[in-house]
Amino acid sequence: MKEKSVTPEREKWSGQLGFILAAAGSAIGLGSIWRFPYITGENGGGAFMLVYLLCCAAVGIPVMICEIALGRHTQRNPIGCFNQLTPPASLLAHFLGGGMVLTGIALLCFHAIGWGVTALIFGGLVFWKSWRIVGIMGVVAGFLILSYYSVIGGWAIGYVVKAASNQLTFETVAQAKTTYLDFIGSTGRVIGFHFVFMLLCVAIIYKGVQKGIETACKFMVPLLFIIMLVLILRALTLPGAAAGVSFCFTPDFSKLTAQGVLVALGHAFFTLSLGMGAMITYGSYLGKNENIFASGVWITGLDTLVSVLSCLMIFPAVFAMGFEPGEGPGLVFQVVPAVFHRLPAGPLWGTLFFILLAVAALASGISLLEVVTAYFVDEKKWTRHRAAIVTGIAIFLLGGLSAVSIENWDKLPAIQKAVAACFGGARASFFDLVDNLTCNWMLPLGGLFICLFTGWIWGTRNAIGEIRHGSKNFADVHLLSLMAGLKDDPSHNSSTHPLTLASMWGIFVRFICPVAILITFLHTIGWLNLKP
Ligand code: TRP
Repeated sequence: MKEKSVTPEREKWSGQLGFILAAAGSAIGLGSIWRFPYITGENGGGAFMLVYLLCCAAVGIPVMICEIALGRHTQRNPIGCFNQLTPPASLLAHFLGGGMVLTGIALLCFHAIGWGVTALIFGGLVFWKSWRIVGIMGVVAGFLILSYYSVIGGWAIGYVVKAASNQLTFETVAQAKTTYLDFIGSTGRVIGFHFVFMLLCVAIIYKGVQKGIETACKFMVPLLFIIMLVLILRALTLPGAAAGVSFCFTPDFSKLTAQGVLVALGHAFFTLSLGMGAMITYGSYLGKNENIFASGVWITGLDTLVSVLSCLMIFPAVFAMGFEPGEGPGLVFQVVPAVFHRLPAGPLWGTLFFILLAVAALASGISLLEVVTAYFVDEKKWTRHRAAIVTGIAIFLLGGLSAVSIENWDKLPAIQKAVAACFGGARASFFDLVDNLTCNWMLPLGGLFICLFTGWIWGTRNAIGEIRHGSKNFADVHLLSLMAGLKDDPSHNSSTHPLTLASMWGIFVRFICPVAILITFLHTIGWLNLKP
């Protein structure tokens, strides 16, 4: 009685709370705790934070809603999703593909060989595969991002061990820096921790959606908030903490540059896990009675809250101890341990902080692995167990290259030379390259395509049809009635108002978000120069 063609019932989240926690777990990660504080530090503090909040609200929420709706409608991984919805012919896709081919030719003329060839190939693929390319790019991005994300997740685990065994005893940031460079340079150890991280990811994904991801996130996300609150209380009660608080919350627009605005938008994508179909995949396990609008707002809100809180946790301590805020990527691995060491019970705070970082990274890592796993389960009919293990091993191996490249790239001169010849930048390690390729290229492009696809191809009408399930006419109430709390009041329930959440969302998805993303993107590739 075994019938191969019958797909088993798709697993589901237990409910809206399970989904929100899992998705928030995906969003809250190294992006919020490691990256956001240091880019805020580098870009001048308060003003940058305001712009970032705006980017989350204006671009993050609408795109998040698109992804969840796409996922729940098709019940598929990103590739399956776009295969199902892509029309036989799309002029817009041909136009975009053609544009990219021309870009590639232009880049070749400027001797940017690697990027030129990439643009040519990619443009050709867009032309050929049409919108299906968005799904393909998403799964590939998931694979690539996790390969280096896991390396940093491994560092966090390594630092938990170091902090707990009282090895982070620095008086100065210079000492912390030596230890940090020493640690990330000891390839064996880094790969070991990278392995541990991947092992944990595979173990959770192996157990499935509800028993694995949801159970893990229901434990990890609340834990995250508790640790964070403890550390914030500690930081805010330090003498001199006020300077840190005012650095975060006093906007000084003279410090804000056009570059900063673009960094903010790019970061919004990364930190909300958008642009590669992670939310399509998680959305595909969402039941029809759950509210997509509300979920999208909750997930974005929780992630943004954690980003702001991490600044509040780090900067008061940094200022109170007289360190520099613009320290760059080493901020949490160098400055933070040095800061905590000076406090009474230093190892305790340090251990808590790195547990926080490792847990946040793990909850995000599983969402990346789930995208790749879901593809093999849905499209290749692998069992979940096999898919989780095989993709996990492949990602571990690729990540090994990133791990080696960060400090010991010189030991692989052949690969280094090839990469440098293609993409320029002699010192750009494999790690930097993958990071740059995914965050600056694949995610914004993916986000742009997801907006255009939802807005113009699948159509906002179909999308809203999906969103209406479970949204209890949320989408169709006049905005003012909604804000005034009169949603179900008999005099306010007409669905003929033009000014509704649904129509606002449609305008953002069709016009505002694509334009905002396109400007960022053109600036990144240097065709639009928005110098301050
Ligand atoms: N959002 C996570 C972070 O902030 C990283 C992440 C998880 C991610 N899944 C993603 C980024 C999907 C882009 C796409 O650390």
